[in-house]
Amino acid sequence: MGEGTEAMIFRQLFDSGSSTYSYLLADDGNALLIDPVLEQAGRDAALIGELGLKLLWTLETHVHADHITGASVLKELLGSRIAMSAAANATGADRVLRNGDEIEFGSRFLQVLATPGHTAGCLTYVLDDQTVAFTGDCLLIRGCGRTDFQGGSSAQLYRSIREKIFTLPDDSILYPGHDYRGLTVTSVREEKAYNPRLCLAKTEAEFAECMANLNLAYPKKIDVAVPANLNCGRELHRENSA
Ligand SMILES: [Fe+2]
Repeated sequence: MGEGTEAMIFRQLFDSGSSTYSYLLADDGNALLIDPVLEQAGRDAALIGELGLKLLWTLETHVHADHITGASVLKELLGSRIAMSAAANATGADRVLRNGDEIEFGSRFLQVLATPGHTAGCLTYVLDDQTVAFTGDCLLIRGCGRTDFQGGSSAQLYRSIREKIFTLPDDSILYPGHDYRGLTVTSVREEKAYNPRLCLAKTEAEFAECMANLNLAYPKKIDVAVPANLNCGRELHRENSA
């Protein structure tokens, strides 16, 4: 391992079709890509090539209901390996992740936090020095992921946020899985103060009541995206045999 003399590369990438953010991190030429989107795999592979990076791993924050992962296409294009939550019970991953695991890239690593509640297998990835965390759909900017599908639980989500994310340093920068209003980034301090569902002033009962009354539409792509993502974005007809 080198000493990380060059600055870490970091790019926030956006898919406008699903309002999904993907995140490219690299140190010493070794890259990770969090939550790649199938339709953007060509874009992402080109950028990784232009930056002269080797893509070690694609990481999923969870089994997405709104888009298909680009993990398998990137594996074919770039030889990257696929990591996702053990609790997702997916097939086709090269590595399954549990709370406390570390994913190394160059001289840096991400630590895995299990943050269930939006789905049963949701993960948050925290940079080694806790300056940055990638929260997926667990914590969104001034919001959070819904809890009415995929093993979701408002009680679990509340605990994940209060016990795992809000115990990071107040200055920790948080990057969400989506934003629908043009915001790109937040911090622990901001969400503790201003998240309308989960700020420190809200009780668990208030949060549960809020989540039970969202009256959200059935996710448009869930019936296609979830089966595909349970197979890491590979062909849908593959046997569920792992
Ligand atoms: Fe999600």
